[in-house]
Amino acid sequence: MFKINENYLKLPGSYLFSTIGKKVNAYKEANPDKEIISLGIGDVTQPLAPAIIDSLHKAVDEMAVRETFRGYAPDLGYEFLRSAIAKNDYAARGADIAVDEIFVSDGAKCDSGNIQEIFSINNKIAVCDPVYPVYVDTNAMAGRTGTYNKETELWSNVIYMPCKAENGFAPELPEETPDIIYLCFPNNPTGATIKKPQLQEWVDYANKAGAVIIYDAAYEAYISEEDVPHTIYECEGAKTCAIELKSFSKNAGFTGTRLGYAVVPKALKDSDGNSLNALWARRHGTKFNGAPYIIQRAGEAVYSEEGKKQTKEQIAYYMNNARIIKEGLKEAGFTVSGGVNAPYIWLTAPSGMTSWEFFDYLLANANVVGTPGSGFGPSGEGYFRLTAFGTYENTIEALKRIKEL
Ligand code: MLT
Repeated sequence: MFKINENYLKLPGSYLFSTIGKKVNAYKEANPDKEIISLGIGDVTQPLAPAIIDSLHKAVDEMAVRETFRGYAPDLGYEFLRSAIAKNDYAARGADIAVDEIFVSDGAKCDSGNIQEIFSINNKIAVCDPVYPVYVDTNAMAGRTGTYNKETELWSNVIYMPCKAENGFAPELPEETPDIIYLCFPNNPTGATIKKPQLQEWVDYANKAGAVIIYDAAYEAYISEEDVPHTIYECEGAKTCAIELKSFSKNAGFTGTRLGYAVVPKALKDSDGNSLNALWARRHGTKFNGAPYIIQRAGEAVYSEEGKKQTKEQIAYYMNNARIIKEGLKEAGFTVSGGVNAPYIWLTAPSGMTSWEFFDYLLANANVVGTPGSGFGPSGEGYFRLTAFGTYENTIEALKRIKEL
């Protein structure tokens, strides 16, 4: 009789956003007349920009003609997109990333979950707490995280780096040396960022410790302040210690169309001199048949002059929502952070409520959905996340309702 991967049995509950979805659906069923506003999952609401749509249409038409039809995409990504990424996301920022260090994928969620496969099961991970749940869950599925303690909600073999108000929601260098360090800046869920000198400290630390940093830069396009790094490769020495993950979801609205990429520098080697770039290429070749041609053409359009202008306008739209949420919450007496370099606003649940108590309270009394901070880890308890990805009208209405509570 077959057996399952028992690591899956150790996973606590269901995935955070599935739990929220179930709760909201149950509420909707019981209260069909209520108008629910979702500021929960970080999903975009603006349609794809015209330049992207034009490019998609063109690519679809090409697929109808024998001479321009495309079958399997190159598993590492089309050259046209990889070159556009290298030029715009790296060369333009003074970071020298070669085309063959860029691996196009169907999104950063998959990459952030899959990347752990190329590391030894004995490697120890360090994560921020709170954290995007995919990093820990996928390492747990692989059997790297030890046992889960239901009381503390911590895994025995994970190094947690608490990010709280006291440290500006920025992790401190861990006492115990990890092998793999997950960092995400601008941060999901807290919306916090670190400046370049702070990130340089992490790069220096990793190089010295022989650790690898998995740097999730999915929210890079939301950076508005000076001296906040747009890529970890702005830091000296990052190519020998860091993998960077990027997404087209948040900067260009590809949550439904799916596109992302990972940068795995050729200089990045394990202690035996094995190249991670070669390993990731091997993994891609075996398990991935490439992101769709039409979507990669749409991704290329993000880097056109029109595409840049239009996606910038969308980001400004969401950041205006962020400002409305942040200011509105402050007026209503909440303690808030984030929302300056990121589309997430991190607030303290009022009156000593737990994160889930506030979730239920907000859903029942304002019909607004947010994300409980404790869903991202125990240090998120007592906190709550709202996203700026709603429509302007819904954002205004949600804040009106929250102020009336
Ligand atoms: C979130 O709400 O944290 C994100 O949308 C989740 C994701 O990007 O997968």
